[in-house]
Amino acid sequence: MAKIIAGVATSHIPAVGAALDLGKTEEPYWQPVFKGYEKAKEWFKETKPDAIILIYNDHASAFSLEMIPTFAIGCADQFAPADEGWGPRPVPVVHGYPELAWHIAQSTILDEFDMTIINKMDVDHGLTVPLSLMFGQPTEWPCKVIPLAVNVVQYPPPTGNRCYNLGKAIQRAVESFESNERIVIMGTGGMSHQLQGPRAGFINSAFDKAFLDGLTQDPDALAKISHLTYVQEAGSEGIELVMWLIMRGALNQDLKEVHRHYHVPASNTAVGHIILENV
Ligand code: DHB
Ligand code: FE
Repeated sequence: MAKIIAGVATSHIPAVGAALDLGKTEEPYWQPVFKGYEKAKEWFKETKPDAIILIYNDHASAFSLEMIPTFAIGCADQFAPADEGWGPRPVPVVHGYPELAWHIAQSTILDEFDMTIINKMDVDHGLTVPLSLMFGQPTEWPCKVIPLAVNVVQYPPPTGNRCYNLGKAIQRAVESFESNERIVIMGTGGMSHQLQGPRAGFINSAFDKAFLDGLTQDPDALAKISHLTYVQEAGSEGIELVMWLIMRGALNQDLKEVHRHYHVPASNTAVGHIILENV
């Protein structure tokens, strides 16, 4: 059986991708942001997973207000970087893993999670920025990636509890896949931020740090956080944090926190990043 060996969470700010693509990572504003990801780069080089299940959200790039799947899994062979208005990012095409993606689709749907199956999709900063943070600027991404998109853009997004339980279903799915492969699951987006309205620029470090603590110590309590609390405490886009709960749900109860990074701000957002290994 395949195994989820670890979970990695990170913010996905588009300006971080631009800083990398434009060679600005050593500038004083960006240096402390990128420094916090050195550990992840080493960790991935040592860990060498066979595939990543990458939980992210599309920002009206592949989907739009015409079509809003709550949970959508990418089952294609490959996914091109999306054009978000400035041309596609200069990053490699993402190679998928159709066999495992279809298996996860089947297993989670039979487990009563209504997953949308996607056979053609471009992937935006929600997916490519986390990959850049983990792997830098390679000519090819080092492993297969299964994109799993979550609607956190148009109300109503799924609850944190639903996401947490989906994570558990994903763990069951992976563990019933016949192979000896080692899989990493990534939860992306967050942490606190608000891009719109009178509170634009809102950041809440106390909430973010408690969320990071809760991931290791008490994920069941995090799963109870309501939509209203996310909006009030983490800003309107802080709701992206429900995607971290999918990652956490797919891990064992007992785990080891290997690394944590928190920095404010990058663009309008609190950068958070954590690596959790199953024990
Ligand atoms: C920013 C953050 C996001 O999560 C996003 O999707 C777009 C922009 C920002 O801080 O600029
Ligand atoms: Fe976002």
